[in-house]
Amino acid sequence: MKGLILSGGKGTRLRPLTYTGAKQLVPVANKPVLFYAIESLVSCGITDLGIVVGDTREQIVAAVGDGSRFGARVTYIQQDAPRGLAHGVQIAREFLGDERFVLFLGDNFLRDGIQQFVERFESDSANAQILLYHVPDPQHFGIAELEGERVVRLVEKPKHPRSNLALVGIYFFDHHVFEAVAHIRPSFRGELEITDAIQWLIDQGYRVAAEVLTTPWIDTGKMEDMLEANRLVLETLAGKVEGEVDDRSRLVGKVIVAPGARIINSHIRGPVIIGANTEIVNSFIGPFSAIDHDCRILNSEIEHSIIMEHTVIEDYSRIEDSLIGRFAQVRRSPAKPSATRLLLGDHSQVSMP
Ligand code: G1P
Repeated sequence: MKGLILSGGKGTRLRPLTYTGAKQLVPVANKPVLFYAIESLVSCGITDLGIVVGDTREQIVAAVGDGSRFGARVTYIQQDAPRGLAHGVQIAREFLGDERFVLFLGDNFLRDGIQQFVERFESDSANAQILLYHVPDPQHFGIAELEGERVVRLVEKPKHPRSNLALVGIYFFDHHVFEAVAHIRPSFRGELEITDAIQWLIDQGYRVAAEVLTTPWIDTGKMEDMLEANRLVLETLAGKVEGEVDDRSRLVGKVIVAPGARIINSHIRGPVIIGANTEIVNSFIGPFSAIDHDCRILNSEIEHSIIMEHTVIEDYSRIEDSLIGRFAQVRRSPAKPSATRLLLGDHSQVSMP
């Protein structure tokens, strides 16, 4: 089996971070969300991977390389514009050949991996296999209607959803999907929808197997989703201190301190991960925080947040439920008149007490 990861798209719901970076590279527990997809494929023995890239190609290539560090071989496939998931499959035709494959959206996160679904698809005669997940807001997803275990209808982002079973962004196909993609037309959002391609397979009498997931799945399109994925991963990590912790500091619960990091006169309440060469001084870092490498946190309190690399936070109490990008600076200023001074990118969000 081969793997096809889609890593293009604009990531509009994660602006302003996605003005400068690929949404698939936003870190979950200090590791790009895309890496979890690659690792879950590789851990099932799927090492021949195609990655469909768009405008952010250079960043994705810089982060993933030829795949050897994951034990994979990666072929990059360029998509000229975000023309839809099914278009991504279409342009990967040559790479995929006639092999069965897993289509994995690079911003989808499945905590417990895909092993059991790969095994099922390998031992099954189904032409396609989809995964479904109960969601509270079905209008935002592709939605499936089942009759018993049989999938009868799939609708992309329905205004009036007839079920709350969302299509997870991890699909299994045989080569019939290419025929399906060739038969569908762009949707209301101008994209070739994989949802429509699967519906075509159903209509033509091909077998589409479905499984309802019971373990956590997150489509990491928005900040809240990133924080939730971060929480899920941090919960599963074991603590490990490789950096320096001075004797005035207190670490409670599972805390990872990467090499070169320094914790000085601070209180860290896990689960927390502190990246390489980051300094935490006179500060409190609360549960479910991931502070990436080369940050400096001074006289501040942070909880339930993702702080990306090279960011400085000084004299600020307290930051919660936040996602802060690279090279950002957040500090309290004694300058008069006392005021909030902001230099924010487009679509930034600030909420103050
Ligand atoms: C895409 C699919 C949708 C699916 C979702 C899962 O939506 O079109 O059917 O439920 O991924 O992440 P998009 O992220 O393009 O809005």
